[in-house]
Amino acid sequence: MQSWHYDELRHCGVDYAKAEEAEAYDEQHKKFRDYEKEFGEMMAFLELEDAGNKTLIDLGCGTGATAFYAAEVFQKVYAVDISEAMIAQARKKLGAENANVAFVQAGFLGYEHEGEPAALVMTKAALHHLPDFWKQVALLRMNAMLKPGGLLYIHDVVFQFGPREYAEKIEAWIAGFEKVAGAAFRADVETHIRDEYSTFGWVLEGMLEKAGFMVEKRRSNDGFVTEYACRKVAEMGTAV
Ligand SMILES: C[S@@+](CC[C@H](N)C(=O)[O-])C[C@H]1O[C@@H](n2cnc3c(N)ncnc32)[C@H](O)[C@@H]1O
Repeated sequence: MQSWHYDELRHCGVDYAKAEEAEAYDEQHKKFRDYEKEFGEMMAFLELEDAGNKTLIDLGCGTGATAFYAAEVFQKVYAVDISEAMIAQARKKLGAENANVAFVQAGFLGYEHEGEPAALVMTKAALHHLPDFWKQVALLRMNAMLKPGGLLYIHDVVFQFGPREYAEKIEAWIAGFEKVAGAAFRADVETHIRDEYSTFGWVLEGMLEKAGFMVEKRRSNDGFVTEYACRKVAEMGTAV
């Protein structure tokens, strides 16, 4: 690897490589998330037909919030994460019987997909760990993992408000999390804003276009958490 290349193991923000962070993850997130409902909503949003014959790559899969349900529906699931501790939690939940799930410890910038090109690449609450320049590289790499016409699903904190409104919007958003998930989680959300790399919708949408995608759908209920369904419309070749 070139000496100027981003080091994905040198995490930013919340340290998901720590075993205690990984062990506490589901309990903390279940205070404000319902993984099964999220999976159903994602599938409805994507309107993907015939998933039983399709391959899914989940980048930044974490403790398997999606993989657990996707294993029942997709022919093959590649569950990829940079943190061995998070993958260990996912493995525990999925058990040995889910032979159609392959766990891979790798990052957005290092994962080499060896199976057939996927119909769906997804990333949930993970892409914001990369600074924008490296998000662009990651999106090019996702393009290369997909079949022509394949779909990219992004679910992440992407700012949809006007730049000048940032202070009041962020204060209100953080206060909302504190109400439902407590003071400790407030600290994690503050870390997200301060130390991680969520960006504006118009920035991400420009990057998606440059990576050979067309945004088909965008959904955000709060101006923060945003879902994108993006179609691969151009072959961009292999990125580093
Ligand atoms: C907030 S968790 C989201 C996990 C899961 N997708 C979910 O929906 O619950 C962020 C995940 O991104 C992973 N991650 C951080 N940087 C990464 C990178 N460069 N490549 C792949 N995964 C990364 C972390 O290890 C962590 O498991």
